[in-house]
Amino acid sequence: MILNCLVLATIPLDTDGREIHTCYTYDTSVEYRPNIKQLLILLVPSNNSACDIFPAGVNINVTIGNTDFATTVPLPVYLPYSYTISNFGYQNTTQIAVEGFSLPLDGLGDEISIDFLLIEIYSYAEITRIEILEMQTIISSLSECFYSDMPMLVTKDSLYITMNATGLCRIQISALKSLQVTIEGKQFSFDLTQASLVDLKTNYNHNVKFNIQLLPGVSDSFAFTAEKPDISATAYLLTNQGGVDTRIDLQLSSSKYDSIQNFYQQSMLTLNDKSYTFTLIPKMPSIIALRAKLSATGLVYNKMILRIIMYVGSSSYTFEYLTPKYNPFKIHYSFSCNDMPSNQVEQCNAFYRLSAASSSGRITVSALFYLNEQMLAVQHDTIPFTPQYFERVYFELKSASQACLHLESTRHLNDVQTKFSLSVIRSDNYSSKGEFTFTAGYDNVQVCFDNESLVEAVKKEFICTLTVQQQLTVVHVFSEVKQTGVQKSNLARSVLISVLSAVVFVFSVLQLLRFQKQLKLLKKKKQ
Ligand SMILES: *[C@@H]1O[C@H](CO)[C@@H](O)[C@H](O)[C@H]1NC(C)=O
Ligand SMILES: *[C@@H]1O[C@H](CO)[C@@H](O)[C@H](O)[C@H]1NC(C)=O
Ligand SMILES: *[C@@H]1O[C@H](CO)[C@@H](O)[C@H](O)[C@H]1NC(C)=O
Ligand SMILES: *[C@@H]1O[C@H](CO)[C@@H](O)[C@H](O)[C@H]1NC(C)=O
Ligand SMILES: *[C@@H]1O[C@H](CO)[C@@H](O)[C@H](O)[C@H]1NC(C)=O
Ligand SMILES: *[C@@H]1O[C@H](CO)[C@@H](O)[C@H](O)[C@H]1NC(C)=O
Repeated sequence: MILNCLVLATIPLDTDGREIHTCYTYDTSVEYRPNIKQLLILLVPSNNSACDIFPAGVNINVTIGNTDFATTVPLPVYLPYSYTISNFGYQNTTQIAVEGFSLPLDGLGDEISIDFLLIEIYSYAEITRIEILEMQTIISSLSECFYSDMPMLVTKDSLYITMNATGLCRIQISALKSLQVTIEGKQFSFDLTQASLVDLKTNYNHNVKFNIQLLPGVSDSFAFTAEKPDISATAYLLTNQGGVDTRIDLQLSSSKYDSIQNFYQQSMLTLNDKSYTFTLIPKMPSIIALRAKLSATGLVYNKMILRIIMYVGSSSYTFEYLTPKYNPFKIHYSFSCNDMPSNQVEQCNAFYRLSAASSSGRITVSALFYLNEQMLAVQHDTIPFTPQYFERVYFELKSASQACLHLESTRHLNDVQTKFSLSVIRSDNYSSKGEFTFTAGYDNVQVCFDNESLVEAVKKEFICTLTVQQQLTVVHVFSEVKQTGVQKSNLARSVLISVLSAVVFVFSVLQLLRFQKQLKLLKKKKQ
């Protein structure tokens, strides 16, 4: 509802020479929030340097006027809304919230309609006046008490919620009683014995950021959520004003279990021939941080589960890899539908077909460290999924000097000049065995490399990266290959995996080489 000005009443202005004119533009506006009894003045400075003279401590008077002779309220209405602020800055004070403000009632018990507002900002020596012709009435939602980015972090003994206050709910928050949280269906209640809630209650104000820490005081209270890559949680504040409970829902933007941020420097999924290969290259600082986190437990884990959950549409599939010892050298984790227990093969194949055809998906990776059944530490990440280009790619050694790649495409590749680059890397220490590049037409079936040193390079275990470039389209084929022996050379088919990357080259090989160097450094440091 907009209350329009009918008549601009004349207010007697002081003439003692201390008035400074046009400190604010006509865009200055006022919002009235009757349900939270607040008048919000949104100031737009005109950058008049004469107005810089105001000190930090100023008084503000708000006068409202009504020219409707039918109301029983005497005219003009002068309200003693006098307000003092101590951190005023002409350039940076853009909001003034007048709390506890409400319009007077007319003879029928309704709030009077008003035609103008006069705002006076003054100090001992100077005054400026702003006439507002239009006031907007907004029913303020209590969901506006905080800015929307409100992440929650869960550790086994405490919860952390970061809240940035809008300053719109000062009255409510000053009557704060408790914070209620529901995590995975379990309820927790925190009252004012929590120091950070007292801080929130006392210091709630515009643009003040709170890092609320909540301690239930019972050890391992939240350990039950540790295995979950996504935690479902809701939270609200309870306030009590004059005996009335009010609930302020908090819009949590995320809720995660304590993990190292940006753990991987590169991560991806490649699909080929009913198998999934997840490539996970950790950052060196991540490995160090994880090691520190594990040693801080004072215990030594004897089991690590790498649990990867892939979601496509409404389906999901879980892959698990179990090991007694986490090896950061191992960066490829492959799962083939053919190796699944017989009762799962069909489901796995169906999910594979869905994944290969899909252009979007979601993948979570969780590394869970246990000592027997006791959880020691977790690491959760989400890795990207890019649409796959080839459904099946395989490698064939045709002779002592020729190696061919068979590419079964699920999507259309143009028959234009295509550049093929093949990098071969040792799978045990990631050192390079060679880079092989040539340009040819692409017939949608196979590409062959005639090069003896290439065939030589793939005689033992190796990893291979094929980059297919057509003008700006770069198809990045990445694979772990187990060479089965050159004797069976022309049948020595090994598996290659494909992925479609963005327009930019992804220099995985360089990254692998850098990774291998960093691992070496790390080993040296340990000694
Ligand atoms: C006043 O200066 C600020 C900051 O330089 C600028 O964003 C704003 O547009 C200026 N206002 C006017 C009315 O010129
Ligand atoms: C502001 O309001 C107060 C209280 O009604 C009054 O005493 C004071 O004179 C007013 N100041 C101005 C500049 O109007
Ligand atoms: C405005 O800036 C001054 C000086 O930088 C500072 O003291 C004051 O707290 C600021 N006020 C607001 C409302 O941000
Ligand atoms: C959150 O608070 C900080 C002050 O700590 C402020 O600088 C920032 O602009 C606020 N964020 C938002 C989204 O308003
Ligand atoms: C990788 O291993 C091979 C064979 O042991 C060795 O010749 C090569 O120098 C190693 N590369 C690096 C960078 O360690
Ligand atoms: C084989 O590939 C290597 C590495 O790219 C290159 O140096 C060499 O000249 C190639 N040999 C032939 C016969 O093309």
